[in-house]
This record gives sequence, structure tokens and C-alpha cells, in this order.
Amino acid sequence: MADNLDRIAQHLQEAILEGYSQKFRDEFLSPKNIGELEHADSHIRITCPCGDTIEMWLVIEDGKLSDIRFLTDGCGATITCASYVTGAAKGKTIEEALRIRPEDVDDYFEGLPDEHKHCAKLAVMTLTAAIEKYQAQVSE
Ligand code: FES
Repeated sequence: MADNLDRIAQHLQEAILEGYSQKFRDEFLSPKNIGELEHADSHIRITCPCGDTIEMWLVIEDGKLSDIRFLTDGCGATITCASYVTGAAKGKTIEEALRIRPEDVDDYFEGLPDEHKHCAKLAVMTLTAAIEKYQAQVSE
């Protein structure tokens, strides 16, 4: 019985991940930076026209993103893209983090399927908006 369930789960996972690169599969199977930050310097929630939402929290110290977390109700590609984007931004300066582009995410994953390229856009857009919100707060 347990063997059958394992095999079914394996088949489902293979079906879901069909067409994705090994790098995507690795990130999908162990996403990073999931959760909330209690004392964040910036917190934002962005909803894509497709209906998926990413919520992101940033802690910024000495001009660097010292911590970053996210939650999403989105699809596997949204989770995976947000995991990559938050990992790429963590420890970077604000200027470096603002240079991350959806194309970088697509390149890293060796090409997302066309119907999920916008998941990379949502992840980058959320990061950018969270940084810009922080910048607006400190310039007031
Ligand atoms: Fe729309 Fe992933 S399906 S953000």
C-alpha cells in the first residue's frame, strides 16, 4: 500500500515537473526563504493578473538585504521563482538586488515554459516593489 502511494506520488511529481530543467526541479523540491519576518523594514503583497499573490518581507541593514522571506498562494512555478529570487537577492546591496530581472530567473532555470514565464515576472516585481517601498519610507 505504502509502495503504491509512493509510486503514485512519484508519477504525479514527474507529470508536474515535465518540461522543467534539473535546476528548477532542485529548487522546487527544496524552496528557500519561505515564511514571514516579524520585524521587517518592508512588507508588500502583489497579485498577478492570473490571481497568484506573493507576499514578501525584507530586512535591510547597512544598505544590504540581510534577510528576506516570502509566502505565496501561487503555483509551483511561483514558489520556485520566488525561492530563487529571494535567494539571489539575500545579502546583496539594494542596487544589486534591483538589477535582478525576470530574464535572469528564466536563464537560471534554462527556460521556463511559456505559460509560467510570468511567474518569474511576479517574483521580481514583488522584490522590486518591496525595495521601492522601503526606499520611499526612508526618504520621507
Ligand atoms: Fe501566475 Fe504562477 S501561474 S504567477
